[in-house]
Amino acid sequence: MRQMLALLSLILTAACGNGTVTASDGSGSGGISDATLSAAARQTSGWTYYKLRPDTLVRAQSSGHSEARLRTRYNAIAAALLDASGKVRPGASFPDSSLIVKELLVGNRLSRYAVMYKLRGSPNAGTGGWLWAYYAPDGSTQIGIGARGASCISCHASGIDQTRMNDSHP
Ligand code: HEC
Repeated sequence: MRQMLALLSLILTAACGNGTVTASDGSGSGGISDATLSAAARQTSGWTYYKLRPDTLVRAQSSGHSEARLRTRYNAIAAALLDASGKVRPGASFPDSSLIVKELLVGNRLSRYAVMYKLRGSPNAGTGGWLWAYYAPDGSTQIGIGARGASCISCHASGIDQTRMNDSHP
């Protein structure tokens, strides 16, 4: 039921612009495929940036993401859980359809996207109800949602609703 509601909300928000996942494709993976999620993550507008800063930040020592620079952005649903300075609110619990995208950069070149998408009812949801993925700049899948965050959650489990930006960039 929860999953049905989440899918319905995705369909309803399809016309509302960017940063939203636009369609259910009936792929059998909770209605969301890597292609759909990758396309949503690569939309170019409608985002709020961590600390409200669209410039890039230096990676933390503790980061499991090897690229030297990063910037993290939130769709409108996820951004509602940020405080006035653009950091994740203490105790935040992101609702379904929250999309968080981290761009990983080497110099000024985009290396890949790290993606977290909340969809508790999905069979691919890992701990905390997130789907996890890495996508290449051209959108192709490097680590798909079918992996259920197996290589991600060891580091992310300690963060606010599995998110780590507040720890590494306080
Ligand atoms: C070795 C630890 C580690 C592993 C493994 C790891 N991450 Fe992260 N991740 C971090 C840290 C630390 C941050 C905070 C930003 C930074 O400094 O890199 C982060 C940030 C992120 C963000 C930005 C949102 C946020 O606040 O957390 C996303 C999205 C993300 N990671 C996705 C992934 C995905 C997808 C995987 C697995 C394919 C993964 N991560 C594996 C440590 C890790």
